[in-house]
Amino acid sequence: MKLTVIGTGYVGLVSGTCFAEMGNEVTCIDIDSNKIDKLKEGIIPIYEPGLEQMVKRNVENNTLKFSTKLSENLDKCDAAFIAVGTPMGEDGSADLKYVLGVAKEIGMHMTTPLVIVDKSTVPVGTADKVKDAISKELTKRKVEIEFHVVSNPEFLKEGDAINDFMKPDRVVVGSDSENATKIMRNLYSPFFRSSTDRLITMDVRSAEMTKYVANAMLATKISFMNEIANICELVDADVNKVRVGIGSDSRIGYSFIYPGSGYGGSCFPKDVKALKKTAEQNGYSPKLIKAVEDVNDLQKLVIARKVISRFGEDLTGKTFAIWGLAFKPGTDDMREAPAIYIIKELTKRGAKINAYDPKAIDEAKHFYLKDVPNVEYFESKYETLSGADSMILLTEWKEFRSPDFEELKKQLKNAIVFDGRNQYDSEKMHANGFEYFQIGKK
Ligand code: UDX
Repeated sequence: MKLTVIGTGYVGLVSGTCFAEMGNEVTCIDIDSNKIDKLKEGIIPIYEPGLEQMVKRNVENNTLKFSTKLSENLDKCDAAFIAVGTPMGEDGSADLKYVLGVAKEIGMHMTTPLVIVDKSTVPVGTADKVKDAISKELTKRKVEIEFHVVSNPEFLKEGDAINDFMKPDRVVVGSDSENATKIMRNLYSPFFRSSTDRLITMDVRSAEMTKYVANAMLATKISFMNEIANICELVDADVNKVRVGIGSDSRIGYSFIYPGSGYGGSCFPKDVKALKKTAEQNGYSPKLIKAVEDVNDLQKLVIARKVISRFGEDLTGKTFAIWGLAFKPGTDDMREAPAIYIIKELTKRGAKINAYDPKAIDEAKHFYLKDVPNVEYFESKYETLSGADSMILLTEWKEFRSPDFEELKKQLKNAIVFDGRNQYDSEKMHANGFEYFQIGKK
């Protein structure tokens, strides 16, 4: 099939590349000419395992092209995917200016029948707005061209996005046209390994809602466990044991019940807020969704509070080695990462930070912690330790799983570890002479 993907951000680039990998003829569009020039050379703007090789391979095979001109890439195209950003507006709702801008441009330039696919995470009712924006332009042009707007939300996890796209658990398609559904089915059926049909079809609004609900449900599991972790500490129970105890119930399951320093990233924080806003705009005041957000805001600072109760309110003269800046392992993404909040809190109290992350240092240095004083960056985890008062682990990168603890003891001023992701065995840490603070265990 001939496809156009508009927006070469995370979702657009992964989707476009994976469609090309499956043999489709794909053109990815972006208004940023610098980005497009780099992509043509196979240089990708984000870190995502396997993506760069896949982009290069498909560019060489001519299955993947990049362009800044949407107007030249709609002719005889089967489907156009809108995958531009939906930043959070000031009131917490998703800002649709980019999505509707693209819709308008599609209306201005489409020449042949087209399925327009909303891939960006958009509030319920957006497909109707996209449809109106396109119709308006066609009316202005005095032409009649058949088109359908379909909702096809993405469920990609950063760090594992290629796998999620190539072997999806399910593909949700919201459509009000049989023909459009057929095109979507043809496009996605090669991605289902066995004959199992994992394409779930529904009406457009339910599909739009599905994306928000999936993310809000996962965020709810995390906030629930983080709240339980805080209670466990008070009653001298161990949340790690409680987690295994409840996860063994297949109705509950083991996934997404790991307590930690709170959820971050580009999706959960934004989508939970947007769902709350949608409910409010429709006259409903959500209690649980609001609590999920409140618990997460507090959880991001739990480790900072543990540091303060151990070292005092004034941290002047203290240095902390931070292991991990990204919001989760496998990515350089620091959006809403707990590390931002914790580092700001500690430096505000006079502390100095020695930071290391395998991938996110550039993001921290040039963007997220650009204006935060007293943060120094290092090339390896052990280099952060020299002269530090303790080590604080904030992202569960594999290389932090079993470090040389003797080296930690040798280099740190005090054998103290604060663990925001419960990576180590507390009994072993104590037996090894460490003061060890974790989430959900006294
Ligand atoms: C998420 C969804 O998983 C994905 O389907 C959607 O399309 C986009 O949002 P992503 O943001 O990449 O993906 O990260 P994910 O791996 O889901 O983790 C989100 C956050 O939850 C991270 O901050 C992670 O540390 C945290 N988390 C996850 C926990 O704190 N505990 C858990 O048990 C699981």
